[in-house]
Amino acid sequence: MIQARPGLALNVVMLGPPGAGKGTQAERFARTHSLPKISTGDILREAVHEGTTLGCAAKATMDRGELVGDDVMIGIVGERLGRPDTERGFVLDGFPRTVPQATALDDLMKGRGPLVVVDIVVPEDVLLRRLAARRICGDCGVNAQIEWTTTCGQCGGALVHRTDDGDGVVRERLKVYRRQTKPIVDFYAGRPTFRAIDGNQPPDVVTTAMDAAIREASGVSAGAKGVAL
Ligand code: AP5
Repeated sequence: MIQARPGLALNVVMLGPPGAGKGTQAERFARTHSLPKISTGDILREAVHEGTTLGCAAKATMDRGELVGDDVMIGIVGERLGRPDTERGFVLDGFPRTVPQATALDDLMKGRGPLVVVDIVVPEDVLLRRLAARRICGDCGVNAQIEWTTTCGQCGGALVHRTDDGDGVVRERLKVYRRQTKPIVDFYAGRPTFRAIDGNQPPDVVTTAMDAAIREASGVSAGAKGVAL
């Protein structure tokens, strides 16, 4: 397990196109390191599911594969990062997604320690195959695991396609990614805490690579003082 240097929080951002494995890896890293995983996609889907004002406003945008407005997203993340459970750090999945969001995150990070940014790189043909094959639980929303056939192994709900995983919408999401989100890779790439990793490998191999990348980028090394391995 990685611990940030004494006195510093472990703040991680996961970048990557739709289907790169951000959610899968963020979940694993957050669980292993007892950090909150903050997924803006999950927050929005939960709001849609509950029929809140935010959910009703966001649904059509998400179903078209477009991005919800920066002001709304920055407000959601600002509020979430203000909660005490993020003081030791967090794993952000799906935010930032635009340059204005990345700039706002820099402002939110003032006085909170370094931000480690991991970009998961996967070729587009692989992304298309993964998203066409993905099933989620229609009740609790988790990604289906390989051993689950028609029902969720956690809550028993029926497995369904995500509403934005249809071929046309996925292609739109990839377009939106190239146009609006890819530029933030350049925004972060020159920083010493940025790492790109190969996401076109089995999930466990990606997890190991991500752990090593975060360990290195956060300035900790095996056996270093204050580091639990
Ligand atoms: P969001 O939920 O963030 O969707 P996304 O970025 O398109 O990402 P995905 O969830 O599709 O993919 P992922 O990279 O998390 O991959 P996963 O681990 O699930 O956002 C949805 C929508 O919400 C957006 O389109 C937008 O409208 C809105 N939104 C969210 N945040 C926003 C923001 N900040 N600003 C504005 N709008 C926002 O894996 C995918 C599949 O591949 C799974 O089936 C998984 O099991 C499998 N898989 C994972 N890793 C591997 C591997 N290594 N090998 C083989 N299969 C794998």
